[in-house]
Amino acid sequence: MVYRWVLLLFSCLLLSRFLMLTQLRDIGRAYYQWTPDPTSSRLMKPEAGVRDDKFVEVPQIIWGLNNQKIALARAALTARKLNRTLLMPSLSASLFYKETDLLEPLGFDQLFSLHRFNSLCDGFVRISSMNSGVFSDVFVVAKGNGRRWTAERDMAQLEECSTPEIDRHTVIKLEGKHPFLWHDHWPVVDYARVFECLVLVDNLSAQVSRVVSKLKILSSPTGIDYNKIRLSPFMFQPKYVAVHMRIEKDWMIHCKKLEMRSKARNGKDLRICSSKEEIMKRVANIPGLEKPSVVYLAVADDLLEDKTLLEGWSGFLAPYEKKKLGVLDIYSKYPYLIQSAIDYEVCLQADTFVGNSFSTFSSLIVLQRGMRINKARGCEGSTMASYAYNIEGPAGGPKRWATNMSDLSLAAISYGSNEVSCL
Ligand SMILES: *[C@@H]1O[C@H](CO)[C@@H](O)[C@H](O)[C@H]1NC(C)=O
Ligand SMILES: *[C@@H]1O[C@H](CO)[C@@H](O)[C@H](O)[C@H]1NC(C)=O
Ligand SMILES: *[C@@H]1O[C@H](CO)[C@@H](O)[C@H](O)[C@H]1NC(C)=O
Repeated sequence: MVYRWVLLLFSCLLLSRFLMLTQLRDIGRAYYQWTPDPTSSRLMKPEAGVRDDKFVEVPQIIWGLNNQKIALARAALTARKLNRTLLMPSLSASLFYKETDLLEPLGFDQLFSLHRFNSLCDGFVRISSMNSGVFSDVFVVAKGNGRRWTAERDMAQLEECSTPEIDRHTVIKLEGKHPFLWHDHWPVVDYARVFECLVLVDNLSAQVSRVVSKLKILSSPTGIDYNKIRLSPFMFQPKYVAVHMRIEKDWMIHCKKLEMRSKARNGKDLRICSSKEEIMKRVANIPGLEKPSVVYLAVADDLLEDKTLLEGWSGFLAPYEKKKLGVLDIYSKYPYLIQSAIDYEVCLQADTFVGNSFSTFSSLIVLQRGMRINKARGCEGSTMASYAYNIEGPAGGPKRWATNMSDLSLAAISYGSNEVSCL
């Protein structure tokens, strides 16, 4: 009899532990080990797939990380439109706007896993590592540029490429001056699907983990009831806030100009610029923020020299940038593009993200965080919450921010937009 009770008790314990573990696993996955699940995501439907014997070749992709990600998605979506595989493009490791001869090409697969890309985007878009040199049957299409090259002309040209006459060629080679920086033909969900397939190569995600775990170690001894940890060690998830702070001099000059131009042109009072003091105040006023909180400041490198960056924060916020965090060595061995990609991931994985709604870097992070919550209600709940510090929300905090996935073009959510979707 006693034996039976013991057995029953034991199975109950086992069952509860199992239930708890699955629950924890779900929570853990939502926060950290998230990977897209092609069968459950609302955006993934089975597709006919793109041809793997016809290709599109594109010129080297340039500028900042965001510009490169967007251009890459456009190149992939262009290839999809033509029902072709994209030949692996070159990205640019360095950030140059004018001296294009100084751009260091960086293979797509030096930054993102090609294998993961093709398995996650299977049936939607495809990238091949084949060298364009092996093909002789190449049709060259010169893409236009400048004011007179409108989005309509750009699209009409693309449609022409689907005609049997051109389509019979094995490779369609698109030439021109950075053809994917300008025209936007695709809805936000299409971009989101491609971004979801961009997973850093293993050696770089290992670096991201090193940075993230430093932040978590710092946040773990703060404000914790150790008795609670002893009772359920799995329940405790250290959290950090990431703030993408744009306060460098040239940005402040630029954003002031934008504000003035908007006022002069259409009388609109846009709030783009936020001083360091305003950002600090709004972050401190985030409703329901855990106190104390570790705050990671994603800033331009020249701000790391500014001693006052870490001063003036509210007492319950512990600010860190890469220098104080002791991870400068992780970043400094890499070129610009990779450093930026690591910072992007650190912001992506933060429990709370605060950015500038006018910044494309911030906007892409918010878009991708929205995908990870995998819920339409991106404006509620505290898990993976995002905010725009340049717009005032309730109680002196920043405005809650989620991407409107129904938008018909990326323009609505990227550079120059104050659209935060949450009411
Ligand atoms: C691409 O072409 C393949 C083979 O002709 C076809 O089965 C598939 O439906 C096409 N995909 C799209 C998106 O049109
Ligand atoms: C990552 O590892 C691959 C080989 O595994 C190597 O080709 C690549 O250069 C490495 N990337 C970086 C940024 O260290
Ligand atoms: C989202 O975008 C769609 C399409 O542009 C628009 O109709 C809708 O009102 C937007 N929703 C919000 C909450 O802004």
